[in-house]
Formats: sequence, structure tokens, C-alpha cells
Amino acid sequence: PPSRANCSPPPPPPPQPTSQPAMQPDSASHRIARVAAHLSPSPRPQMEEGVRPAPCRAKGGAPGFKVAVLGAAGGIGQPLSLLMKLNPLVSVLHLYDVVNTPGVTADVSHMDTTAVVRGFLGPNQLEAALTGMDLVIIPAGLPRKPGMTRDDLFNKNAGIVRSLCEGVAKCCPNAIVNLISNPVNSTVPIAAEVFKKAGTYDPKRLLGVTTLDVARANTFVAEVLGIDPKDVNVPVVGGHAGVTILPLLSQVHPPCSFTPDEISYLTKRIQNGGTEVVEAKAGAGSATLSMAFAAAKFGDACLRAMRGDAGVVECSYVASAVTELPFFATKVRLGRAGAEEVLPLGPLNDFERAGLEMAKKELMESIQKGIDFMNK
Ligand code: NAD
Ligand code: LMR
Repeated sequence: PPSRANCSPPPPPPPQPTSQPAMQPDSASHRIARVAAHLSPSPRPQMEEGVRPAPCRAKGGAPGFKVAVLGAAGGIGQPLSLLMKLNPLVSVLHLYDVVNTPGVTADVSHMDTTAVVRGFLGPNQLEAALTGMDLVIIPAGLPRKPGMTRDDLFNKNAGIVRSLCEGVAKCCPNAIVNLISNPVNSTVPIAAEVFKKAGTYDPKRLLGVTTLDVARANTFVAEVLGIDPKDVNVPVVGGHAGVTILPLLSQVHPPCSFTPDEISYLTKRIQNGGTEVVEAKAGAGSATLSMAFAAAKFGDACLRAMRGDAGVVECSYVASAVTELPFFATKVRLGRAGAEEVLPLGPLNDFERAGLEMAKKELMESIQKGIDFMNK
């Protein structure tokens, strides 16, 4: 288990100057203040009661990581919060949104798993939500409706991502950030520019989440092969929109081969997976449950790597020198500091090489759009 400096037990309370008896750490009011903290979130709710905040489990259990979900009341945010509350590596879970966090927090906090849950509502509580966090997962922002591209979300979501990342730079500059908000191809460059301006940018700590593309690829390939998806691993590289989603079907594990028809079907279905869900939901949003599952899987991989586990490899959209583009998704080796090694593409066949050229053209424009947004 990780040994985090900020997870040591709180020091003993100082002597009380009044004739009132000092509040004992195990007193009823201490316990009530601690467990009810989420009901009226404030930066240091326990202090208002005269009780010291407990940075980790007050009863000395479970050291672990502090994780914040920004956009926690949304379609992805709610099931993602539930899944992170199930993760034994999480000791503190902060749920932030501009709406509805008191309800979501009360609900999730009743799960009898280790993590202590606290809710934060609106920009005035963003700093409290972020202070001390080890991992920040961001699914905040508008989802697509039928007929829209992910890029159509740029105008709304660029500003949301900028303001949340400004909070990260100020309050938890060493946190690892998992960015989900679309268009990921542009929001990751926006986040990088925010961190550069703040002087906190470490490319290893900024990871665009493309795990859902891998989950879809594994599922659809497993269907074609007639095997269990858990035994399949398809690298998906490039970015997270349309032709920038490039599944490397020549590198599927376990090794296998596909007919040209299968390759065409699988490539189109993987690239179109998000739109398939948007159309099926018919105006009610985009993928939320599969995305929460994918984000929880990716978040867990980051936490295991932060703990020191070796051999944690996932696809992610990161700062990269694999191509001439500044950002690109490939397999990355995760470690204590984030994306510690960006792995090469490996051998591509002619079909994949052609796909790579198309992906790079669109990606370049999306990356530049994000950079321009921050420098206009
Ligand atoms: P949603 O509308 O259900 O939820 C979004 C939440 O963000 C809402 O609760 C909203 O209040 C909150 N929000 C808005 N502005 C905020 C701010 N400034 N600070 C904090 N929270 C704020 O949408 P959703 O279905 O959860 O999707 C969220 C985002 O994730 C969308 O941009 C969507 O396109 C994207 N997405 C990405 C992937 C991926 O693979 N990377 C997959 C699915 C969805
Ligand atoms: C997805 O791939 O499901 C997400 O990017 C959401 C979308 O708009 O398709």
C-alpha cells in the first residue's frame, strides 16, 4: 500500500485554553462531525465544530489515495463515483459538480466500503475539492446529441476544462489528471497549456482517457473471434474521435488474423462506437455506463502504478514523440509519476499506415485548435 505523507494520522489536539473539557477524538460530536461532513460541504467543515480534520480514515485504517471526480453528478460522474467508492486503493473521494453533489454524495457515502466521501458544490468549493488530491478524474462537460461531432462540443467544454485545470494547477499541481471531457483531442492540449501558463506542467501527469475505445475494440473483436473479451487486448492509437481512433488489428492479443471484410467491419464499428450509443440514446446523451466502467478501470491502473506496481500498461492520449504531433494515443507504461514511458507504435500493415496518415491530419487540427484557444 502507498505510504503518503499526507495520510499520516492527525497530530493530537492542542490543549484547550478554556475551562471546557477538550473534545476527545472519539467523542460523539467528533464522530458525527466527521461522518456528516458531506451534508453541508465546506472547505474545513470539521474545524467549524472545533474538531480536527482527519486527512485519512480517522480510525487508523486504510492508507490510500485521495481522488476527486469533477462533474460527479453527471451521467458518467455518478456511476464513476460509485465505482471509485468500490476501489480499495481510494481512502478519500471528493465529488465536485456545479449541481446536485449533496444528493450524489449522501447516496454514495452510504456504501460500506473504505473511502470517505465528501461533496463539493459550485466554483466556491472547487479549491476545497481539489486540495491534497493525488488523482483528479474529469468527466465534466456537455455530451453529444445525434448529428453532432465531438468537436461541436468545443465551444462549451473548452472553457469548463480550462477553469477546472486552473483549479488543479493551483490546489493540487502534483496530481495525476485523467481527462474525459470531449473533444479529448483538443481538451488535453488545452489542459497542457493551462498547466504551462501556471508553471506546473509535467507531461507525465496529464492523461487523456481513451480506454473506452479499447474496451469497445476488445468487445467487438471478441465477438468476431468467439472468445471472452477479457482475454482480448487490442491496442487503439491516435486520438478519440472518428478516424483518429485507430485500432491496430494486426497487434491483437491473442495473435489472430482477420479477413479484409472483418477488418473493415471492426475498424468502422470501433471508430463509430460513440456515435452508435449517441444515436441509440436518441438525444438523451452519450455513453455513460461503459465510460464510467472504462474510466474506473483506467483510474485503477493509475492508482496501482502510483502505488508502485510494475508492468501497468494502458493506452492513453498523452504528450508524445511517437509521431511528429505533440499529442498522440499509444500504449503507455504507468508508474508512480504517471505516464513514465510512451511506448512505440510497433509494426503497422499497409491498411494501418494509411489510417495513421488520416488520423494525423485530423489530430493536428484538433490539437492546434486547443492551443489557439488558450493563446487567443
Ligand atoms: P452529463 O451532461 O451527463 O454530465 C456532465 C456533468 O458535468 C454535469 O453534471 C454538469 O453539471 C457537470 N459540469 C458542467 N460544467 C461543470 C463545471 N464547470 N464544473 C464541474 N462540473 C461541471 O455528461 P456525461 O454524459 O457525463 O459526459 C461528460 C463528458 O464526457 C462529455 O463531454 C462527453 O462527451 C465526454 N465523454 C468522453 C468519453 C471518452 O471516451 N473520453 C466517453 C463518453 C463521454
Ligand atoms: C464516446 O466515445 O462514447 C464518447 O466520446 C462520447 C461521444 O460523444 O461519442
